[in-house]
Amino acid sequence: MAFLWIPFFIALHFSTAVESSHCAVNGFPIVRNISEIPQDNYGRQGLSHITVAGSALHGFKEIEVWLQTFAPGARTPIHRHSCEEIFVVLKGSGTLYLASNSHKNYPGSPQEFPIFKNSTFFVPVNDAHQVWNTNEHEDLQVLVVISRPPVKVFIYGDWNMPHTATRLKFPYYWDEACYQTSPTKDEL
Ligand SMILES: *[C@@H]1O[C@H](CO)[C@@H](O)[C@H](O)[C@H]1NC(C)=O
Ligand SMILES: *[C@@H]1O[C@H](CO)[C@@H](O)[C@H](O)[C@H]1NC(C)=O
Repeated sequence: MAFLWIPFFIALHFSTAVESSHCAVNGFPIVRNISEIPQDNYGRQGLSHITVAGSALHGFKEIEVWLQTFAPGARTPIHRHSCEEIFVVLKGSGTLYLASNSHKNYPGSPQEFPIFKNSTFFVPVNDAHQVWNTNEHEDLQVLVVISRPPVKVFIYGDWNMPHTATRLKFPYYWDEACYQTSPTKDEL
């Protein structure tokens, strides 16, 4: 009798497959070749960003994974976000600038931490920080895991800008194209 179910499962399979679009969860193979996932600099010079697994793109609710490559001299803006963030340095080296004195009204002078191939670090929730490829000879490549996607980023003009004067960038550059079609998620 089991063979009678086969056409049913085939029909079910096709009905879910047609839903797929470039911003939807459906239609991605389980195993993907990272070299074939689109990358973009999203208007930031010297950056290559790949959303390996994302909220807007794949419907992930708890975490998001990025692969980012910074050309020599390239850096993130000074920013903060209310999510957890973990980095693994795959290639190159650079500097993490981190202002952990969040009791003040502004970040103030950051501490500088050298980062290097096969190092890992995390950024405490809401601490202002900046990752900078300060190595002029080599790309810096990092795998980044964040919680609570899509990320809501507050951007500082400099380390002395008051927390309350920062600009919210949401949806963030790599979420913009897909954000409209993604499921909404409650704030904390
Ligand atoms: C992954 O993609 C790259 C670039 O298209 C290709 O060179 C490589 O062979 C692929 N790897 C596998 C295992 O298919
Ligand atoms: C990173 O460190 C781990 C633990 O020592 C080691 O097994 C691995 O080979 C290292 N990878 C690189 C790329 O150096």
